[in-house]
Amino acid sequence: MLERAKRLVAPSARSDVPAFMVMDVMAAAARIEASGGHVVHMEVGQPAASAPASAITAARAALAAGRLGYTEALGIPSLRARIARHYAEHYGIGIDPARIVVTTGSSGGFVMAFLALFDPGDRVAVAVPGYPPYRHILTALGCQPVLIETTQESRWAITPEMLIAAHREAPLKGVLVASPANPTGTMMTAEALGNLLAAAQSEGIRFISDEIYHGLDYAFAAETAARLSDDVIVINSFSKYFCMTGWRVGWMVLPQMLVRPIDRLQGNLAISVPALSQIAAQAAFDGRHEAEAVKHVYEANRLVLLEGLPKAGLERILPVDGAFYLYADVSRFSSDSFAFAKQMLEEAHVAATPGIDFDPLNGNSFVRFCYAGSTADMHEAVARIAKWLSARVG
Ligand SMILES: Cc1ncc(COP(=O)(O)O)c(C=O)c1O
Repeated sequence: MLERAKRLVAPSARSDVPAFMVMDVMAAAARIEASGGHVVHMEVGQPAASAPASAITAARAALAAGRLGYTEALGIPSLRARIARHYAEHYGIGIDPARIVVTTGSSGGFVMAFLALFDPGDRVAVAVPGYPPYRHILTALGCQPVLIETTQESRWAITPEMLIAAHREAPLKGVLVASPANPTGTMMTAEALGNLLAAAQSEGIRFISDEIYHGLDYAFAAETAARLSDDVIVINSFSKYFCMTGWRVGWMVLPQMLVRPIDRLQGNLAISVPALSQIAAQAAFDGRHEAEAVKHVYEANRLVLLEGLPKAGLERILPVDGAFYLYADVSRFSSDSFAFAKQMLEEAHVAATPGIDFDPLNGNSFVRFCYAGSTADMHEAVARIAKWLSARVG
């Protein structure tokens, strides 16, 4: 039977991408909760709040009206125009709506951007620590992710020197950056982003900027690569700032030359993004006051953790500039971040994500905490971690 299955349906080599370890943490947390325990959830990177009321109202009205058909492959024109207006309102820059494409979350954007820009075998630089699907999607598409180890000296970002050094080893076709980043929450200054972009463009390296955590910036204002050049791919999403993870809707700002290839790709791969989600997304822009209120909760949570975790024993934390993540060094307590996270869950009932999920090089020294929950939960987490770590040292 197994032999027959192997012959008929054995999965391809390229489908053999690693799973997220956080899934194991989530399953263990669910077991604790099933037996009556209360877990503080800081493992999953998504807002606890729901979509703005304006989005939900618009979706209800669309459902009541009945028919929801396919839309234009590039997205509903009024949504593309509304996203363009967002660039004018938020960043003060003019973007032609014709350069905006609506995607199935930013995740759908990565697949299409990589397909449109790269061929099998192409080398694409990504920062480590970093969001794992970048490298896994590239691998599944036959491209080669080139992991660039970032350091405190480079403020946990790829620098022009690092990029050029990797390019000299073997030519790079592209580079992908995120600011604010996941798992660190660290941001690139406008100057650092501009310098890296200039270095990439002088070498003919294609530049992708993941701006999914824009809007959630606390240390300084996040800069968009769209201001710096028309020849970059900007990827964004309604998932985080607008609290719409489950709606699966995002967007890209494209160079004019890539609009038609992406139009063809999306038409073939998905036909269109779900109409209901696009309608809700357009209305979400009218709910910015709600999104801002949620952001204020994150700001408060960030301060609770920044004050409490060092006192609890987690003194080394990467710059907590934006997003809703805090990346803490746990090497004082463990050289195995998965075992550390597992034990913290079992004994302190605080769920976090092991750094090894984000960084195959140094991830065993770090744990990521997501602070998109309630402020009461943050206080509770700090108290539990302090008690647990003092017993460990003690
Ligand atoms: C840095 C980063 N980019 C992209 C995504 C994908 O988000 P979505 O597909 O919901 O837009 C995530 C999700 O956690 C992320 O952290």
